[in-house]
Amino acid sequence: MIGKLNHVAIVVPNLEAATALYRDALGAKVSEPLSLPEHGVQVVFVELPNTKVELLHPLSDKSPVAGFLEKNPGGGIHHMCYEVDDIQVAAARMRAEGKKILGDVKIGAHGKPVIFMHPKDFLGCLIELEQK
Ligand code: CO
Repeated sequence: MIGKLNHVAIVVPNLEAATALYRDALGAKVSEPLSLPEHGVQVVFVELPNTKVELLHPLSDKSPVAGFLEKNPGGGIHHMCYEVDDIQVAAARMRAEGKKILGDVKIGAHGKPVIFMHPKDFLGCLIELEQK
């Protein structure tokens, strides 16, 4: 069912420093910072030939990633995103498999429908499924 790895999201304590690290130390192509108030985050996209890395930083204390940063002050991998053909088919399959979907289908950071799967069902890793 899952296809390409769309992105890996890393929550970072300092977006400017994280961007410089990927750009200067790793020689990666990085975007300008983008604020996504509806998701409570500021994001920098690191463009790789085969996928993306998203550097996420909370916009406020109410951000969904603020708690993560509290528990992981140095930052860390937050989720991995896999592409699926049809989000409703994917959600139905996850339910049939007894896997816990966090919330409902929503529109993700790329304007496409996504669901998030509970880390306890997937080896400790929060998984985002995004319709391509
Ligand atoms: Co994501």
